[in-house]
Amino acid sequence: MAPTSGLDIQSQTHSAAIHSTVGIVGAGSIGCFLGAILAQDKSLAVQFFGREALGLELAAYGLSAGFPGGNVSAIAPAFYTSMVSLIECDVILLTVKAISLPHLIPQLKKFIRPDVPVIALQNGIGVDTMLSASLSNPVYRAVVPFNVVKTGPGHFQQTSSGQLLWPQSNQHKLDYLAAIFRHYGSGVQLCADMRAVEYGKLLLNLNNALNALSGLPLKQQLLQHDLRLVLAAAMQEWLQVAKALQVKPQAMTLLPNDWLPWLLRLPTRLFRLLARQMLKIDDAARSSMWDDIQAGRRTEVMYLNGAVVRLGIDTGIATPVNAAIVELVKHLEQGESLKLSPAQLRQQLLQR
Ligand SMILES: NC(=O)c1ccc[n+]([C@@H]2O[C@H](COP(=O)([O-])OP(=O)(O)OC[C@H]3O[C@@H](n4cnc5c(N)ncnc54)[C@H](OP(=O)(O)O)[C@@H]3O)[C@@H](O)[C@H]2O)c1
Repeated sequence: MAPTSGLDIQSQTHSAAIHSTVGIVGAGSIGCFLGAILAQDKSLAVQFFGREALGLELAAYGLSAGFPGGNVSAIAPAFYTSMVSLIECDVILLTVKAISLPHLIPQLKKFIRPDVPVIALQNGIGVDTMLSASLSNPVYRAVVPFNVVKTGPGHFQQTSSGQLLWPQSNQHKLDYLAAIFRHYGSGVQLCADMRAVEYGKLLLNLNNALNALSGLPLKQQLLQHDLRLVLAAAMQEWLQVAKALQVKPQAMTLLPNDWLPWLLRLPTRLFRLLARQMLKIDDAARSSMWDDIQAGRRTEVMYLNGAVVRLGIDTGIATPVNAAIVELVKHLEQGESLKLSPAQLRQQLLQR
């Protein structure tokens, strides 16, 4: 796709090009995907902060991103393994996993200038609170509702549909970045209430842990009635907690959120018919939490099902299903192999 000048973006957004340095902190699937798109704009200098192995790969192969609207690439992107250059950045996209944040925050504090907006793109709840408690910077949430996978050397591919959910703000820099995402073909939806968005995304992400526990590909897992009953119960708990907190989670599917547990509880024959959209998944796809367990990494479960339990305690809502899910994931993180059938999982997770 041909690069466009800041002036073209300006005519779309009624705002001046920002001639800024964007820091992508956590060059992985999401960071490289979004950074590759931003790097198309000549008025931005995009710097990637990540691990050495990826830096070498991008130096050798360049960086590219693919999405339903097209493909973009960047030759020799600026890549750093040290955070020192963060001092040059005028806006930061934070794209590490939530579990990496506690280690990273002291470095952010040391090197990011205090006026620089920080946009946190993690899944889960509690990330912005943690950042705001340590940084004096303005902190924003953005949510990625689609999947991105590294499919080749330096190539990051969007593998499901959806638009980036971006905060509506009075920050010119944020509006400008949104305009660039939109201009280069990756959709963006501006959202006034990012809390509702974050809560809505969590409703779907509650399945990540269950997928890791089942050991099955996502599609097979969703076709197991026993496991759908567990997911429905976990979702119901979160919807009750959100209600107690007076937050209406934004719906991320065509159905209203309250209907999802009902849909999941249907017999498999009916579920197959009514959930065709939900079942449009690659046969081999699994949750990233399953990948984390296979790689012996800690998972984001404490920011997902764990957040339901924490906020359940705060609001006095019982969350036994999510608590049981967290407990089993913790066993997996310790390297234990559970080998539970769907029926056994249902028994362990629902009968407390
Ligand atoms: N991928 C998706 O499809 C998707 C979709 C929606 C939302 N999300 C959310 O987006 C967030 C990022 O996910 P992701 O899939 O992009 O993760 P990822 O591929 O693991 O990328 C994060 C990268 O940051 C690196 N990193 C962590 N701490 C670092 C540090 N101190 N210095 C330098 N590099 C560091 C990680 O390296 P190490 O692994 O060595 O720590 C990793 O390479 C997560 O919260 C995830 O839940 C992901």
